[in-house]
Amino acid sequence: MTAAPDRTGPDGRAAPAFDLFWLNSSLNATTRAGFGQRAGAWQPPPPAADRLAVTAAPVALGRPVDAMQQAAEARRSRRAFAEQPLTAESVAALLSGAAGRADGSGRLVGSAGALYPVEVFLLLRRPSPPLERGVHRHLASEHALVEVGPLPEEEVLGDLLDPTGDPGGAAVVVLALHLEAVLDKYGERGGRFALMEVGMTAHALELRAAAAGLAGYLLGGTDDAGLDEVINRGRRPRVHTALAYVVGDPAH
Ligand SMILES: Cc1cc2nc3c(=O)[nH]c(=O)nc-3n(C[C@H](O)[C@H](O)[C@H](O)COP(=O)(O)O)c2cc1C
Repeated sequence: MTAAPDRTGPDGRAAPAFDLFWLNSSLNATTRAGFGQRAGAWQPPPPAADRLAVTAAPVALGRPVDAMQQAAEARRSRRAFAEQPLTAESVAALLSGAAGRADGSGRLVGSAGALYPVEVFLLLRRPSPPLERGVHRHLASEHALVEVGPLPEEEVLGDLLDPTGDPGGAAVVVLALHLEAVLDKYGERGGRFALMEVGMTAHALELRAAAAGLAGYLLGGTDDAGLDEVINRGRRPRVHTALAYVVGDPAH
C-alpha cells in the first residue's frame, strides 16, 4: 500500500522548496522597500550580441489578419485613468477572460490537471451598480461575482498596492493562488504550473480589457501579506496573492 503524500502548500510540506521560494519572494511592509530600491537602481546592461544567433537567413513570417490579432495588437499597459467607475458591462467583459466556457466544459484558460489554482478577486474601488464598493470573488464557472467583504479605506488600499502613489483605476483585479491541490499532486513542479497559470489568466484579462476599451496595467510589487488579509478575511485555507491588475476607463 502506498503511503499518503504529506499535506501540502505554503502551510504544509508537499513542496518545501517552492514554499521557501514563495516566502523569499513575497513582499510585505518590511521587504517592499528593498524590492523598490533594487528595481529602481537597476541599469540595463549594454546590448549584447544575440547568443542564439545562427548564420542561416531568417524566413519572414506573415502576421495573421483577424480579430484575434487585432485584440493582441490592442493590448498594452495603460496607466492614465478617467475618474468614473466601471460599468457593470465592462466588469463582465473584463472578467469573462477568466471565466468558464459557456457550455460548462472547463474554462477559457487551461490548467494543469484541470485543478484551476487561480482565484480571481475584484477590488472595486468605486461602485458599479449593482456591484458595491468592496471585495468581490469571481465564480469562474458561473461567471458571477459574489461580495466577500469590505475594502479598506482608499489610503490603506493605495499603500498596499503602490507605496509610491495612487495606482489609479476604478478597480483592481487580484490573482491569487490556492496551492494545496496543485502542490499535492505535482510536488515542486506544481509551483511552476501555478505561476504559469497566473500569467495566462493575467494575459486573458489584459486582452479582454483591451477589447473592451479599458485601460490597465499589471502591478507586480504589491504588499502580498496586506492584500492576503483583504481577500482572505480570516478564511481557511488561505489563498495567496500572486499578481494584481489595475483597471479602469482610460483618461481622454
Ligand atoms: C509580471 C509583471 C509585473 C508587472 N509589474 C508592473 C508594475 O509593478 N508596475 C507597472 O507600471 N507595470 C508593471 N508591469 C507592466 C510592464 O511594465 C509592461 O508589461 C511592459 O513595460 C511592456 O509594456 P506593454 O504591457 O505595454 O506591452 C508588469 C508586467 C508584468 C508581466
